[in-house]
Amino acid sequence: MAAKILVVDDDQNVQRQLIYTLKQEGYEVVQASDGAEGFRLWGAEEPALILLDVTLPKLDGYQVATKIRAEEGANGHVPIIMLTAEREVEQKVRGLRAGADDYLIKPFHPAELLARMKSLMARFTPRDVLVGRPPLGRIFAFYGAKGGVGTTTIAINAAIALNRELGRKVCLIDGNLQFGDHRVFLDLGLDRKSIVDVVTAPTIDIDLIKNVVVKHDSGVDLLLAPPSPETAELVTQEHLPNILDQLRSLYDYILIDIDKKLDELNLRILDAADTIFVVMTADLSCLKNVRLVLETISHLGYEQAKVHLVLNRSNAFTGINVKNAESALKRTIDHQIVNEYRGAISALNSGAPFMFTKADSLLGRSMLDFARAIDKMTPEAHRQLASTAQR
Ligand SMILES: Nc1ncnc2c1ncn2[C@@H]1O[C@H](COP(=O)(O)OP(=O)(O)O)[C@@H](O)[C@H]1O
Ligand SMILES: [Mg+2]
Repeated sequence: MAAKILVVDDDQNVQRQLIYTLKQEGYEVVQASDGAEGFRLWGAEEPALILLDVTLPKLDGYQVATKIRAEEGANGHVPIIMLTAEREVEQKVRGLRAGADDYLIKPFHPAELLARMKSLMARFTPRDVLVGRPPLGRIFAFYGAKGGVGTTTIAINAAIALNRELGRKVCLIDGNLQFGDHRVFLDLGLDRKSIVDVVTAPTIDIDLIKNVVVKHDSGVDLLLAPPSPETAELVTQEHLPNILDQLRSLYDYILIDIDKKLDELNLRILDAADTIFVVMTADLSCLKNVRLVLETISHLGYEQAKVHLVLNRSNAFTGINVKNAESALKRTIDHQIVNEYRGAISALNSGAPFMFTKADSLLGRSMLDFARAIDKMTPEAHRQLASTAQR
């Protein structure tokens, strides 16, 4: 069934354009040209999302949003995107405070509108549908076959895609304890709480962990790495399995980004993980490392299926293609992420992950395909993998 969208705008031209765009995408559209009518149609039609102009006759957009939020109570949350002609930051803030979930400044590109709509609907609808569903509690470790292959980029953006696009509850852990990059990638200061605040507490329990995780604007919860390399030593190999285990009861997915050392601490994490994603690029030193990692993993007694190979920057020219890599490793590459250096680096330098700000880019779509593939792995498959992982 097509999702129903309510468009509230008094400008005939804008309305025509919006309706055209939405119908082309297969949405059902209901329309209102003043605020009071918009509010009434929200109650009568129960739309899946509202596009709400700010300046409207009778009730303005802010008033409509405020009234809807007051009436819908705790059980419902219709996503609202505010359409504003005003460029002032104050106005946006007012809109968001009034209860809008997002805003777009006119004129905007239809693709941008559709991307924001999809993201919001994925974020809100499944959660309502899935009320009462226990969390999946799956642990994914992201392990780089060498530094700089994009492990952190993939862990962060996959976490955001699983949350924003697929409606999952996600916790992302920076497991690179000494030199974790998540604060930089996500523009968070050293004052934010970290795993050190967990391990230095007298008892580690769920309430403590809930208090330490940092809520990122993207919707993902973060357990950050220590603020300095010295304090990383406070985290021992016993701590992480315990923390991971507790997080299982709160989240659908716990993603942990770890560096390439195969020390006892990392081995404990790999052990606890349901799936290990080994991130690589198509070059000789990576192939060598992946071969060694696969050997180590089979010595540890893990099933081969517990390990997934992720080829990052898969279409970059390296002289080694996917087939070559597969035959050198004697196994298939499970996932591929496209190469888009500019998108990746500008996201990194601005502290806003591309999955958050440019979900519709080539890189964003490639990442979403990856997130969909890992979300499709059934809990049964995960449980089997987890039980074979017991040493
Ligand atoms: N798919 C990609 N396309 C282009 N550049 C990428 C891609 N993924 C990562 N990068 C870039 O590679 C560099 C290293 O990424 P990072 O995630 O820090 O790697 P790692 O965690 O493995 O050290 C960064 O500059 C990042 O922007
Ligand atoms: Mg990294």
